[in-house]
Amino acid sequence: MTDQRSIFITGAASGIGRAAAELFAQRGWLVGAADRDAAGLATLAATSEAIVPITLDVANRDAVVAAFTTFGEQTGGSLDCLLSNAGIDAKGPFGDMAWDRVRLLVEVNLLGAMSVIHAALPLLRAAPNSLCLSTASASAIFGVGGMAVYSATKHGVRGLTEALSVELAGSGTRAADLLPGIIDTGMLTAADKAALPTEGMWRVMPAEAVAEAAWQAYHGDKVHWFIPPELTELDRQSTAAPEAVRDELVARSIV
Ligand SMILES: NC(=O)c1ccc[n+]([C@@H]2O[C@H](COP(=O)([O-])OP(=O)(O)OC[C@H]3O[C@@H](n4cnc5c(N)ncnc54)[C@H](O)[C@@H]3O)[C@@H](O)[C@H]2O)c1
Repeated sequence: MTDQRSIFITGAASGIGRAAAELFAQRGWLVGAADRDAAGLATLAATSEAIVPITLDVANRDAVVAAFTTFGEQTGGSLDCLLSNAGIDAKGPFGDMAWDRVRLLVEVNLLGAMSVIHAALPLLRAAPNSLCLSTASASAIFGVGGMAVYSATKHGVRGLTEALSVELAGSGTRAADLLPGIIDTGMLTAADKAALPTEGMWRVMPAEAVAEAAWQAYHGDKVHWFIPPELTELDRQSTAAPEAVRDELVARSIV
């Protein structure tokens, strides 16, 4: 084991994953930066010698296993933090979505996340107080109309996190997730941004705010990290009064 802490981030070439890679590298960590976008990874790796680019499709199981074997050789066989973050979205009514798109969303956002976590666990277990961290979404608080499959995959990520937080307790590895609301990344179109409020829980947040939450998650003990924190209230309401949350989302047309 080396003294330098290490993190493996999927979806690291842009948006939230990229901001997290930059933040952890700036703070002295070795960063395994994985993404299917090799060109984006190359520009990221040029920003720091602590960032190791790893071209990877999280839906390819053999490639995922090989990536952790290779990165583990660079860390001395351990991993302090995993940020399973790669994801894709798709908007539109569920009934109109092409079946191939439905499958792809599940294969990347849910099965891909499971594959990455499953392959990372031996390395995480070898590090003291390690963290298995995943990017879920506010759509895992209450499903978002027009993003039904995406919401279902993110509920899956949240459920997996909660189960692992129990299953891994006492093993030296913690589990947590990030539940970002609306973040200014490539996933957000200019039209989306123009239609969004400038304050409250549905305001647009920078990717750096989620990266900072990932840092806090490693140094904290919470299971769920809401960005912005006002989403915690939506989480309470969605359990206490789901019909009221449904009606408010319908009225606001948050899509
Ligand atoms: N932007 C938001 O408003 C928002 C809100 C909540 C949650 N999220 C989640 O945050 C995560 C990061 O998204 P983002 O907003 O930074 O978007 P982004 O599009 O900027 O980044 C996603 C990254 O994942 C990579 N990726 C996609 N499919 C992949 C695959 N099969 N294998 C490897 N890499 C793959 C992409 O190449 C890209 O670099 C996603 O899981 C997303 O669902 C985003």
